[in-house]
Amino acid sequence: MLAVSGFDPGKVRSQFPIFQQQEPLHYLDSAATSQKPQSVIDAVNHAYTKLNANVHRGVYRLSEAATKAFEDTRDKIAQFLGNVPREQVIFTSGTTASINLVARSWGESELKAGDEIVLTVSEHHSNLVPWHQLAAKIGIVIKYIPLKDNLRLDLEAAKELISSKTKLVACAHVSNVLGIIHPIKEVIALAKKVGAKTLIDGAQAVPHLSTSLSELDCDFYCFSSHKMLGPTGVGVLYGKKQVLDAMPPFLGGGDMIESVSLEGSTYAPLPYKFEAGTPAIAEVIGLGAAVDFLTSLDRQSALEHDRQLGQYAFESLVNNPHVTLHTQPGDDWIGTLTFTHKVIHPHDLAAFQDSQGVCIRAGHHCAQPLMSILKSPATTRMSPYIYNDRSDIDAFLAAIAKAEDVFVNH
Ligand code: ALA
Repeated sequence: MLAVSGFDPGKVRSQFPIFQQQEPLHYLDSAATSQKPQSVIDAVNHAYTKLNANVHRGVYRLSEAATKAFEDTRDKIAQFLGNVPREQVIFTSGTTASINLVARSWGESELKAGDEIVLTVSEHHSNLVPWHQLAAKIGIVIKYIPLKDNLRLDLEAAKELISSKTKLVACAHVSNVLGIIHPIKEVIALAKKVGAKTLIDGAQAVPHLSTSLSELDCDFYCFSSHKMLGPTGVGVLYGKKQVLDAMPPFLGGGDMIESVSLEGSTYAPLPYKFEAGTPAIAEVIGLGAAVDFLTSLDRQSALEHDRQLGQYAFESLVNNPHVTLHTQPGDDWIGTLTFTHKVIHPHDLAAFQDSQGVCIRAGHHCAQPLMSILKSPATTRMSPYIYNDRSDIDAFLAAIAKAEDVFVNH
């Protein structure tokens, strides 16, 4: 395997203090959450040690400095997403909260019984359950785009499913289980043809791909800070201004109002209408540092690096008669590899890997409908990222061989 030119994983890794501990740590679970560089940890530390005050409320300098640092992250995100207007960047607690906000606010105000929405069968539960809840509440009809045999989205079927009755098409940008990049431009084009709104779950995409939302032109795009090197507890909902303006607030409380009397309330303009209560101030500031870190990288080379590590693991496992690989690599892939071992249960394999210093995820990955399609209630997933190198994959492969000695060849 050749190193990717313009990308130095050793230099990247040296900036993540968790890898400087004594025990070797082969962290291959970045689809669940990413590790944090020192700059992000420092930014959060700085926020609490030097800037701690509430935002948007104080007229004293400390609060103004906190507000500036907080709002600077909004500017960075707006630029990071392809120079979208800052008022269209709403801070939430994560992708799940962003999708719930859309389902509850846009869904409940715009949809009625019998309206159709189209999802895919490979969605994470966070892009299924809020819509199931809405269906139970108001009687919308949910249709699902299937996958082809190669586990890519079936666009021909999508053309049939998306019709004049469709009001929304909601789809992950990248599958959290398969690591496959869905053809969202085509999906968005199909939705636009019938006047349907579009929501893209970018949780697994933003850490790996640079995406311009001004070009993509979807109505909503959601992602989480913690998967893109930032702190937990923060996420983003991007929305088109016209759509967001027409939506009622989701949560009511402080900071989202224009005025409140005993008779009623009026609401603040975007983005604050959707940011009730004290936000995760230090974490948002940390997210700003994560954006700085990602934008300092050659992102295409970083993606190539992640994909090469996945490819290396794939090539080593493809001839293992005990392993069923669920991901077929390609240019539409971020390197996440999911498989089933025919003898060793995913949880046993993950626990064994842990004994060898390797962290991988086992289970249904919050995508139970996809597990049914894979005919496996649980699978094992390894998800490489920018701080991994070939030695991590070697440790993972060696641990599979050792586990087979214990569970298969005894
Ligand atoms: N959504 C995260 C994952 O896929 C937690 O692992």
